[in-house]
Amino acid sequence: MRISDNVVARLKELGVEVRQGVSLTDLTSLGIGGTTDQLLLRRYETVPEVMRLLKDENIPHRFLGGGTNVLIADGELPWVVLHLPTAHPGVRIEGNAAYVDASADLGGMVTFCAKNNLGGMEGLIGVPGSVGGALRMNAGAYGTQFGPHVREVELYRAATGKIETLRGGDIRFDYRHTSFAPEDVMLRVKLELPSKPFKEILAGIKVCNEKRRSSQPLNQKSAGCIFKNPPGGSAGRMIDELGLKGHRVGDAMVSDRHANFFVNTGHASCTDMLKLIDEVRERVRTAYGVELENEVIVWRN
Ligand code: EPU
Repeated sequence: MRISDNVVARLKELGVEVRQGVSLTDLTSLGIGGTTDQLLLRRYETVPEVMRLLKDENIPHRFLGGGTNVLIADGELPWVVLHLPTAHPGVRIEGNAAYVDASADLGGMVTFCAKNNLGGMEGLIGVPGSVGGALRMNAGAYGTQFGPHVREVELYRAATGKIETLRGGDIRFDYRHTSFAPEDVMLRVKLELPSKPFKEILAGIKVCNEKRRSSQPLNQKSAGCIFKNPPGGSAGRMIDELGLKGHRVGDAMVSDRHANFFVNTGHASCTDMLKLIDEVRERVRTAYGVELENEVIVWRN
């Protein structure tokens, strides 16, 4: 989708940088996605005004964080993408509290806190993506979840059109799911983390990194796990037991390392990946009577 020059000029007045005709294949870890205009929001406080302008001008939009858990349609996309440019490190420490920008890199944030002797997030070190994305989906790995550390969230709330602060206790954090509305935009989060010596945190990080390296296809293009685990079960194990590792549709393939990772081995399209997802879901349904739910977010056009 292309924004008119008139709207581009008004967005610029709000400090928004507009990049026209951007290919989202370069902005997602799967390397899949069509083309559209990208709006870089450099000033958090202007988010409500930008949203109002887009609404008034009838410009459909989606918010793209780290792009690591999303499968985006091919071709010219009928919406623009909004993005908060990555903050480095985007973290301020006060005692046991870490104030983190949603646009900070998750791994960078964990490392920064570790260097300040704040732990508890070791399991999340290898999870790719932004802090905002990890917050929104309550990312988790190796016994750590993001949600329990959250004390406050500053966000743009679609329901009110304003920037608000929510207390951690008022947010529901479930397995890979939270009570935020789809249109809400995460801006900042206050975490409370336990004090731990850097060396101890580092030892924990090394263990998680080793486990991850030995079981996940880290050097291939993926969106992490494609499906959520069903209650009490493992999607990866079921897909593996069905002999589907290496199964492919075009360049979209079930990883031969971890069966719940679907990788782009070259130039996979969104259509290829969706077909592979449907085929695998169907095989699991037939064999186990289990309906696998997507963990990856699909943006269709
Ligand atoms: N397994 C197989 N074959 C496979 C993959 C797994 O037999 O191809 C077996 C393993 O041997 C193990 C069991 O299935 O006995 C569980 O596997 P694993 O420990 O790899 O964990 P997982 O349930 O597949 C979850 C998260 C991962 C997270 C790891 C580590 C989900 C959907 N996945 O994977 O998170 O990194 O645990 O904590 O909850 C993600 O969310 O994108 C993700 C990668």
